[in-house]
Amino acid sequence: MKILVTGGGGFIGSNLVLSLKNSEYEITVIDSFLSGNIKNLGHFKGEIIKEDISTFDLNRKFINKHFDVIVHLASITDTTFSDDREMIGMNVDGFKNVLNFAKVKGAKLVYASSAGTYGRGKSPMQEDQTPEPLNAYALSKKMMDDLAKKEIENKNIIIVGLRYFNVYGPGEEYKGKSASMIYQLFQQMKAGKNPRIFKHGEQKRDFIYVKDLNEANLKGIKSEESCIVNVGTGTATSFNQVVKILNNNLGLNRKCEYFDNPYNFCQDETQADTFMAENRLGFKAKYNIEEGIKDYCSYLLNK
Ligand SMILES: NC(=O)c1ccc[n+]([C@@H]2O[C@H](COP(=O)([O-])OP(=O)(O)OC[C@H]3O[C@@H](n4cnc5c(N)ncnc54)[C@H](O)[C@@H]3O)[C@@H](O)[C@H]2O)c1
Repeated sequence: MKILVTGGGGFIGSNLVLSLKNSEYEITVIDSFLSGNIKNLGHFKGEIIKEDISTFDLNRKFINKHFDVIVHLASITDTTFSDDREMIGMNVDGFKNVLNFAKVKGAKLVYASSAGTYGRGKSPMQEDQTPEPLNAYALSKKMMDDLAKKEIENKNIIIVGLRYFNVYGPGEEYKGKSASMIYQLFQQMKAGKNPRIFKHGEQKRDFIYVKDLNEANLKGIKSEESCIVNVGTGTATSFNQVVKILNNNLGLNRKCEYFDNPYNFCQDETQADTFMAENRLGFKAKYNIEEGIKDYCSYLLNK
């Protein structure tokens, strides 16, 4: 199976690419390396193309090459990116470019949407509830979902939209301040500091381990029908609880330092309703928060 992975040098993309080692898959990666890092790709043997997906001429580059599936993960992922127009332009133009290419090639398209599209909407979040994007990043994902829905109605190609919730795990270290809270808190605590979280740490997130994401993406790659579904665990965990689990794993007893949240676009709680993912895609997360953090801590401690 020939697969093109955009954003394959990033956190989730590189995890996916490295998990598809099987000789059944021939993988090509496109990444501008804006936030990703070539080091993420380790011993990956396939082709790596350094290009900006929002402008790259895919049809010309791959005039003689067929792809069965395109996994589109390339995106500006820094939610505090300074220029809203640029972020929306690049994310949405990138999606349009990939969508057009998938149609030309008759390839299946699997793409990354986000729980950010739900904003402060009701929780557990269901795929058909009204989107309430709170920032440009979330708006760009909502716009991608809208374009995908139109194509799904037209039944031209199979499209699988995956609304990832809060992903954490190996490979995110290059994201810097955009890496997960679990990574940030681990680093602070390991460095002997108290974990710093927004007042009063009772905000909740549906944290999903990247090893589960590999499985969700694989289900998308193999799906025979179009859908847009949540990819979360179905459980929301507070930041205070995350600190407690990290303390347990690190043998520490650090106290939280609370400070005012400077951003007005943060979600209070995210929690995926997982019914559609289970029923349409056959995906169910295997790692609960304790298991995921335990596995991640042992990776970070042995790095
Ligand atoms: N990590 C999460 O918690 C999370 C949650 C919801 C959705 N997502 C989505 O999952 C996808 C992967 O995110 P990630 O966490 O791996 O972030 P990441 O920043 O590590 O990966 C994004 C990759 O896309 C590349 N990229 C950015 N703009 C590009 C462009 N115009 N052309 C080519 N490459 C470009 C970056 O260099 C990077 O390698 C993104 O679409 C993101 O929006 C992530």
